[in-house]
Formats: sequence, structure tokens, C-alpha cells
Amino acid sequence: MRIVFATGNEGKMREIRGILGGLGAEILSMKEAGVDGDIEENGTTFSENSMIKARGVYELIKNADAKAAQETIVLADDSGLEVDYLNKEPGIYSARYMGRDTSYTEKNNNIIERLNGVPDEKRTARFVCAISAVLPGGKELSTIGNMEGIIGHKIAGTGGFGYDPIFFLPQYGKTSAEISADEKNAISHRGKALREMAELLKAELA
Ligand code: IMP
Repeated sequence: MRIVFATGNEGKMREIRGILGGLGAEILSMKEAGVDGDIEENGTTFSENSMIKARGVYELIKNADAKAAQETIVLADDSGLEVDYLNKEPGIYSARYMGRDTSYTEKNNNIIERLNGVPDEKRTARFVCAISAVLPGGKELSTIGNMEGIIGHKIAGTGGFGYDPIFFLPQYGKTSAEISADEKNAISHRGKALREMAELLKAELA
């Protein structure tokens, strides 16, 4: 059995290999599996979008090589930031917020600006990650993970990516851009959803 993860992001692949490595399956990115194609994420939730991606990539593999598809599990994720005071914006539009090509310095400053004068107890936010799997034979699995925090008052930290420099973790007194990658993986939305998916897949492969 091989696992193809529907991403082109090497950082994500490293995390995925770390968490799913114990399953004894070969873990490939789309590129490594020779799969090419863009799938439109037109769902309304993180879970829907991750399932749309997983099904889309499974179809691409099946159309290219039906035999290979019988030996393949496709995984896909969808993630983003929900800010409660902003009615859970940017949510599923996190990557597209203010335009895909806008820098995260601008996106992060914009969110801080929109929360100007809002007290800490109303600055609650969370990162959410949904992971979906399509197995040979059509079985589908889904998991979801959260990491709770509050939106900081300024950008802080150079680790992580995206909205990490404004995502303040009260239990650390730091943003998720100021903790180590290992610390983040242990508590992150993606880490939680991936570990839960690893357990589900272990049971399927047993
Ligand atoms: P995706 O890769 O299409 O799921 O897009 C997720 C988007 O949500 C990213 O581009 C970031 O803007 C944001 N995001 C998701 N997870 C994180 C995280 O761990 N830190 C910072 N930003 C994140």
C-alpha cells in the first residue's frame, strides 16, 4: 500500500512523514507520485474541502493507472484560521484572504487592525485542520483538529508560517511563531488531525 498526500508543500510532507511513518506504507507527495492537476476547493467547510481534494486526486490516479489506484490511499488536508470576533473569518478563505499573493505581514497587520481596541477575552481564535482519506474500494475517512489561542496585539516570531506570528498561545506566553516546530507539532491542529488519521489508517491496514 502507498499513501499519496495531495499537497505540493514540502514542509507539510515532512510533518506527514514524521507522523504517518510508522504505518509501513510508502508516503509520496503528488509530485513524487507523478500526479498533476488542480482541484477546485468549492466546499463550504474545511472537511468538505479536504474530501473534495482527496476524491479529486484519487480520480486522477485512477484515470491514469487503475491498477496503481487499487494500491493507493489518498490523503488531503484543508486548514485555516477562525477569528471569533470576525465571525470566524478568514476561515476556509485563509490562504486566499486579501488575495493569495498578498504577504502575510500585510494579512497579519490587517487582522490586528480589525481587532483594534478589542479586549483579550474577545480575541479568541483557533487554527483548524481537516484531513480526509479515500481508500481503494471507495471507503472514506475524515478527522479534524483544533488549536485554540488568541489574536495578539503585534506580530511576533519568525518560526512557522502564515498567521503564526499573530496567534498567541496563552499557555506558552508566546505566539505559535515563537515556539519550536516540535512543540507546535505536539499541540497543533494539523498534528492532532494527522495523529487521529494515523490511528484510523492503522486499524484499516491491520
Ligand atoms: P491550505 O494549505 O490550503 O490548507 O491553506 C491553509 C492556510 O491557512 C494557510 O495558507 C495559512 O494561511 C493558514 N494556516 C493553516 N495552518 C496554519 C498554521 O499552522 N500556521 C499559520 N497559518 C496557518
